[in-house]
Amino acid sequence: MGTEKIENVILVGTFSGRRSSLKEEVSIEDSLEELKQLTLTAGGRVEEIIPCRLDRINPRTFINKGKIEEIKGIIEIKKINLVIFDDELSASQNKNLEAEWNVRVIDRRALILDIFAKRARTAEGKLQIELAQLMYTLPRLTRMWTHLERQKGGIGLKGPGETQLELDKRMIRDKMRRLKTELKSVVRARHLQREKRRRVPVPQVVLVGYTNSGKSTLFNKLTHSDALAIDQLFATLDPLTRQVTLPHHREILLTDSVGFIRKLPHELVEAFKATLEEVQMADVLIHVIDASDPLWESHKRATEIVLGELSALDKPTLEVYNKIDRLAQREFGIAQSPRRVFISALEGLNLNSLTESLSQLFEFDRKRVRIILPQSRGDLLAIIHREGNIVEQDYQADFMELTVDLPIKRVEQWKKLGFVLVEQPLSSSF
Ligand code: GTP
Repeated sequence: MGTEKIENVILVGTFSGRRSSLKEEVSIEDSLEELKQLTLTAGGRVEEIIPCRLDRINPRTFINKGKIEEIKGIIEIKKINLVIFDDELSASQNKNLEAEWNVRVIDRRALILDIFAKRARTAEGKLQIELAQLMYTLPRLTRMWTHLERQKGGIGLKGPGETQLELDKRMIRDKMRRLKTELKSVVRARHLQREKRRRVPVPQVVLVGYTNSGKSTLFNKLTHSDALAIDQLFATLDPLTRQVTLPHHREILLTDSVGFIRKLPHELVEAFKATLEEVQMADVLIHVIDASDPLWESHKRATEIVLGELSALDKPTLEVYNKIDRLAQREFGIAQSPRRVFISALEGLNLNSLTESLSQLFEFDRKRVRIILPQSRGDLLAIIHREGNIVEQDYQADFMELTVDLPIKRVEQWKKLGFVLVEQPLSSSF
């Protein structure tokens, strides 16, 4: 956090005695542990973690009177200046709790937005996060924390928070409109770039995974680049795409994506739409899992929930269990399979088996097709050579006729590019 002020924080999470859906299938302990990691990432000092049993939400203050009093006592003794709720608070619950305790109160969403704000690297990322923060701030505008907002570095006060004092709601709306326009042009540029990429029919592979699982480290290792990899959550906010050559000279475009997280704030899903579209457009996903994290199963599930929301759960996926260097001799209760590899991205262990498995993934689900290409398009012939198996090749005066086994996904993409592909039974020979 550099010279920024460190805040003393209390974390509050609720659970229901009646096994209701309040906490999805995640235990209160796991959820609060994750909130603690997020708070540390944002630079806060966690002084106390308070799980509260809650059978009925109090519409005014979310938790009930008794708990409010108990927490008030702790706030005074431990000189707390920030309370972070694991649950989503409405704007009025937020205000009422601040009035009860006389300290700032934020929820998990604001905390995540804060972390994203600090980690945004590109112009697009910065615009997206600023817009998301304004969306979150607008209904919560209050003059109560103006003295605090002048001090830099408060969690949940970065970016637009600092200007909150001068801005009334109308001005914030104007700002949001301007940001949206700016963002539109950035997104348009990204779409154009993506279209350009898609005109070259090279498969798109996107790295997904829970935040801090090692995506950027793996991306760097596979592409020999130096995208940011620091031991904090959410190092990656903006996707990066590079070309990678797999075994058998197969080329792919590899994209690093944002860190996934349980309960990704909806403002962020909205703001990061263009980034998350990369995941939706992918031909193949590499799901990176931190196998050394005791909570890996729950993180894997959380990632799959986000993938489900993006309708990307049925894409061919290679599960990559990372950080095996930390596992020592410990037994890992899961077996290697063609769609599951164990690696250490940091130490470069087993990366060959990863690229080999990835390469094999493209061998699945093939179709035999006949395609006619102009004689002059040697470039397209080279691409077909790379992605498929040419079974027969016939040269005429101006064109060549190929019978080729291609991955089904690629068949569709070639068709979209305007080529006529006639499907053949796989067993037939010509
Ligand atoms: P987000 O951007 O938050 O989504 O993170 P990420 O998934 O891109 O993770 P990143 O590559 O930034 O790695 C997070 C931390 O894990 C860094 O400190 C890495 O050095 C560390 N790390 C990554 N891979 C390995 C590994 O194989 N072994 C060990 N021991 N540490 C690793």
